[in-house]
Amino acid sequence: MRVTKSVPVVSYISFLALYFSFYTITPISSNSIQDDFIKCLHRNTHVDFPLEKTFFTPERNASIFVEILESTAQNQRFLTKSLPKPILIFKPVHVSHVQASIICSKKLGMGLRVRSGGHDFEGMSYVSQMETSFVLLDLSKMRQIKVDIEDNSAWVQAGATLGELYYRIAKKSNRHGFPAGLCSTVGIGGYITGGGYGSLVRKYGLSADNVLDAKIVDANGKLLDRSSMGENLFWAIRGGGGASFGVILAWKIKLVPVPETVTVFTVTKTREQDADFKILSKWQHVVDKLVEELFIRVAIRPIGNGGNKTVMTSYRGLFLGGQGTLMKVMNKGFPELRLTRKDCTEMSWIESTVYNAEFPANTPIEVLIQVKSPFGKLSFKSKSDFVKEPIPVSGLKRIFKKMMQEDSPASFLGWTPYGGKMAKISESEIPFPHRNDTIFIILYNTDTETEPSKHINWLRDLYSFMTPYVSSNPRQSYVNYRDLDLGKNEENSKVNFKKAQVWGTKYFKDNFERLVMVKSKVDPENFFRHEQSIPILHVQS
Ligand SMILES: Cc1cc2nc3c(=O)[nH]c(=O)nc-3n(C[C@H](O)[C@H](O)[C@H](O)COP(=O)(O)OP(=O)(O)OC[C@H]3O[C@@H](n4cnc5c(N)ncnc54)[C@H](O)[C@@H]3O)c2cc1C
Ligand SMILES: *[C@@H]1O[C@H](CO)[C@@H](O)[C@H](O)[C@H]1NC(C)=O
Ligand SMILES: *[C@@H]1O[C@H](CO)[C@@H](O)[C@H](O)[C@H]1NC(C)=O
Ligand SMILES: *[C@@H]1O[C@H](CO)[C@@H](O)[C@H](O)[C@H]1NC(C)=O
Repeated sequence: MRVTKSVPVVSYISFLALYFSFYTITPISSNSIQDDFIKCLHRNTHVDFPLEKTFFTPERNASIFVEILESTAQNQRFLTKSLPKPILIFKPVHVSHVQASIICSKKLGMGLRVRSGGHDFEGMSYVSQMETSFVLLDLSKMRQIKVDIEDNSAWVQAGATLGELYYRIAKKSNRHGFPAGLCSTVGIGGYITGGGYGSLVRKYGLSADNVLDAKIVDANGKLLDRSSMGENLFWAIRGGGGASFGVILAWKIKLVPVPETVTVFTVTKTREQDADFKILSKWQHVVDKLVEELFIRVAIRPIGNGGNKTVMTSYRGLFLGGQGTLMKVMNKGFPELRLTRKDCTEMSWIESTVYNAEFPANTPIEVLIQVKSPFGKLSFKSKSDFVKEPIPVSGLKRIFKKMMQEDSPASFLGWTPYGGKMAKISESEIPFPHRNDTIFIILYNTDTETEPSKHINWLRDLYSFMTPYVSSNPRQSYVNYRDLDLGKNEENSKVNFKKAQVWGTKYFKDNFERLVMVKSKVDPENFFRHEQSIPILHVQS
């Protein structure tokens, strides 16, 4: 892994008067601006592909516009009528289309939202509350995957899903894999921009730790790769969050070895007895220290109703090896779980990706390329935390009481261990800083299908309750679990930069400063902007 020099920017941030502008509001009637945009695209693309097939407007293509807008929008919470919609959806099929869309939106003063897999927690890739008019650049037609087994690498276009990537690798080799997320429908484009972790995180680190090169179109419409963008920008795009620096067209990734046989298991506890708390307590003490081949996450959710209401804890494991070895590792390191051979299933790595995505047993691996989620479309609000000291049993009991107050079984806490490789990579290697001292990450999720404000209030209350048990100064958060609550109470701050510093420090710790410097250099006009994009510095002289 290359070591890049960090830029000393603390002094800029503390001593200069800083302002950053977010908004460019130029209200123009939307029909004419669409025409202008389309004309501009024609002037700026030089490929033999009929452009008419690539864009959709709500007026002219009414019947399919909504369908396309909603196609990969994963969070239903942002599909309500009242939220602003793009004035045009553009589905490029060629690099020059992407370049032209940037040149043209910039020229016409329109915002641009980029969507790869559409899984952004706050709908940031298809909703904007800060632009009067914006174009949605949907990369779903750019999803080519080229696997090169000899070279242990692959080029993956941004619109491909994680499932498609796993499938294409497995078609070429059963001994190669890639460390990426659990849910197969997530888009590789947005996912790697935030780091990206999954069941191989303890063995191989984040997806962003395994990126070799990238193709990106910058704010001037220029196509760059690693050598032409330089190491600062290449550093920033691997974990600094989506849509701040440019449009990623493709990632070149490093493949990793996986054994022919892996073992998976699920062990569920529902009685909420003292023994169960002891297991969860022990899990926290050992889970980041067990062999790197073993990954055990926990889901905690309320189930049942009335007098039968309880909290269910499921331990879902992946072991890179056979069940015999797994049993030995568990008997030695975590006997309290009482894992038995009956709980275990041996399978190939590719089958384990289907299992980890929580498809029913024996679902054929082709489901990975059907871009189908076992959960369908969800409506949710999420938050994240990092835990550095085991939560005491008294704390666990109180967390379970809080879980009992929630009535939707779709609400849950996901606890995922780090350690292993994660602890060996320095905090500034890439912008993702949650490394050595992290035992596990918490994903808080609530179901907002019905009574959204009741559920969101429950979630915020739980998050506040968790304060003493999680990281502090700053209380860290994961940028891929985007949370627009962060920095909210700085809303009235005259200097908007302060608000950005609140979430920026939570997502990136000290790396935030270097991200701001890179951003100011590569996109000084702040063309790539959204509610939580990296701000630029305006130094007032
Ligand atoms: C059901 C579900 C499961 C998940 N599981 C995991 C998991 O196991 N591990 C994990 O780490 N995360 C997980 N996530 C979070 C996920 O990593 C982020 O939501 C990620 O940003 C999604 O990428 P996307 O391309 O699908 O989303 P999008 O909504 O398309 O994009 C997300 C952000 O990146 C920007 N962006 C998208 N494409 C590009 C591009 N080509 N160039 C520049 N910017 C771009 C968007 O504008 C937006 O701001 C999960 C999310 C969901 C909804
Ligand atoms: C959208 O509508 C325009 C105008 O009717 C048409 O020319 C174009 O082909 C339509 N686009 C698609 C992708 O169907
Ligand atoms: C609890 O579950 C049992 C068995 O399923 C059922 O007979 C009983 O009525 C349930 N009690 C309540 C309060 O829901
Ligand atoms: C991680 O933390 C441990 C304990 O604090 C320390 O001994 C080790 O050197 C650290 N490793 C890295 C890579 O920072």
